[in-house]
Amino acid sequence: MENFKKEIIAVLKPLVQLSEKELEQQIAVPPEHKMGNYSFPCFILSKAWKRSPQEISAVLSEKVTEKMERGSWIKEVRSVGPYLNFFCDREKLAEETLQGIFHSKEKYGYCEEGRGKNVVIDFSAPNIAKPFGIGHLRSTVIGSSLYRLYKALGYNCVGINHLGDWGTQFGKLMVAYRLWGSEDSIKKDPITYLYELYVKFHKEADEDPLLEEEGRKWFKKLEDGEEEAVNLWSNFRELSLREFNRIYKRLDITFDAEQGESFYNEMLSTTIDDLTEHKLTLESEGALIVDLEPFGMPPCLLRKKDGATLYATRDLCAAIYRYQKHQFHRLIYVVGAAQSLHFQQFFKVLELMEFPWAQRCVHVPFGLIKFKEGKMSTRMGNLIFLEDVIDKAVELAKQIIEEKNPNLQNKEQVAEMIGIGAIIFGDLSNDRIKDIDFDWDKVLDFSGETSPYIQYSHARICSILRKEKVSISNEINFSLLQTEEEQNLILGLARFSENIKKAAEIYKPSILARYLIELTRDFNIFYHRCPVLTAEDGLREARLLLVDGVRQILVNGLYLLGIKAPSEM
Ligand code: ARG
Repeated sequence: MENFKKEIIAVLKPLVQLSEKELEQQIAVPPEHKMGNYSFPCFILSKAWKRSPQEISAVLSEKVTEKMERGSWIKEVRSVGPYLNFFCDREKLAEETLQGIFHSKEKYGYCEEGRGKNVVIDFSAPNIAKPFGIGHLRSTVIGSSLYRLYKALGYNCVGINHLGDWGTQFGKLMVAYRLWGSEDSIKKDPITYLYELYVKFHKEADEDPLLEEEGRKWFKKLEDGEEEAVNLWSNFRELSLREFNRIYKRLDITFDAEQGESFYNEMLSTTIDDLTEHKLTLESEGALIVDLEPFGMPPCLLRKKDGATLYATRDLCAAIYRYQKHQFHRLIYVVGAAQSLHFQQFFKVLELMEFPWAQRCVHVPFGLIKFKEGKMSTRMGNLIFLEDVIDKAVELAKQIIEEKNPNLQNKEQVAEMIGIGAIIFGDLSNDRIKDIDFDWDKVLDFSGETSPYIQYSHARICSILRKEKVSISNEINFSLLQTEEEQNLILGLARFSENIKKAAEIYKPSILARYLIELTRDFNIFYHRCPVLTAEDGLREARLLLVDGVRQILVNGLYLLGIKAPSEM
């Protein structure tokens, strides 16, 4: 589709006195295929031309038609009201797209746009000594998908897990562990146990306020590097990471750096000095702050009365460190919408420190996941353990396989791919800003808007291609692919790279997820109406290439979301 769009821009440019960039922004995809493949809305010209957009569209349509040549991408142009609609040469599109997929395979849709540029992505970032909750699932899967999307666009990506591994809560945990903890219990189920201790601490502290004081003391010991405190903390951290890594492995997620909040301890004082030199700091009731009142925000807290530094201070250090290390083109924070103010504040402070790159920092916020009452048992209060959710999804997937295909080989692995895929897709297919009502029946519905639906269609294609050991050739007669179903499918395939770009640009994997659902739907319509293996010679080969193209794009697209596609299920 890209070459087609380029040609539209080249044709329009001398006629409308707009820059390539402006044209690029104006040209849109009409809501239905029937209305054309691209559309140029003429409103933008009506002031300069002193004519109505309808008239302009009619004039332009004539001029473009005059300029059209044989062999060009533009097959037809139609003036429809204020819109100038372009239709591309379908045969050319089929050829370019199917050849492209056939040759590039798993790299189809990728480009070099980001070559030489670094994109740093801060995602997942659970807090140690606490269970990996469902709240961190969103950051993990959205972040990981953005990582893959930017990589596909040729950027050099750096994924950082900014673990919550520092703060007064660890002082409290040490107190609890020293009072009530046992080595045996912590070895059995470390995180659950630590979390229980933490909960117990808070209960007891309600009765005995001295405990809080004790907790602060122990955190101070940790900040001062006292041996017992440091050892306890390292142990908590180690045990937590071991559990987190088990989850990351199942989700097929990796990081380039595991630099938690504690990593920045050494840099805190330099950053505070720098802020003071910029005359940005103020003492307020014993604490050190940056006043943000002129910008309509509460102050950014740098240091508490007792000298303890805070989340925001560590984030300032982290951003500065990351720029020094990576000179990023963009620094993306995938963190829940509840922290929007924190990001506004600390981005503002970076700007006040006159870092020109402050503009390159983006917060990518998201809403909450809610589970329907009663459907998910929670081990502790209202905290939902991600691992329980994964286990349940995999278990349900296994039941479905037992029902539908009990003789399947590798049932366990396939169930894992389906169950985990369903969770990831159930998250990513929603606009990230919205809260999600997680519904088990919907998420695993093989015919709904789910990843099992896409995976199932993919497996179905694999089974067609397995039959009679057909070999796919790209030497076909592209003009044979004439039916509406085939045309829709080709158009869908041709739009893959456009959707990757869009999803990355607005940090929304949901764009790609929706695209894959539509492609899958178009495939199923095609499959019901157009026989493949029993089609006559010539057409059969052409359809096989088409179907193989769909298979490849489903695999590539799912991969970019972080989902695997089993070839049988
Ligand atoms: N650990 C934090 C939390 O669970 C998220 C950290 C996000 N990243 C950052 N650089 N602040 O709320």
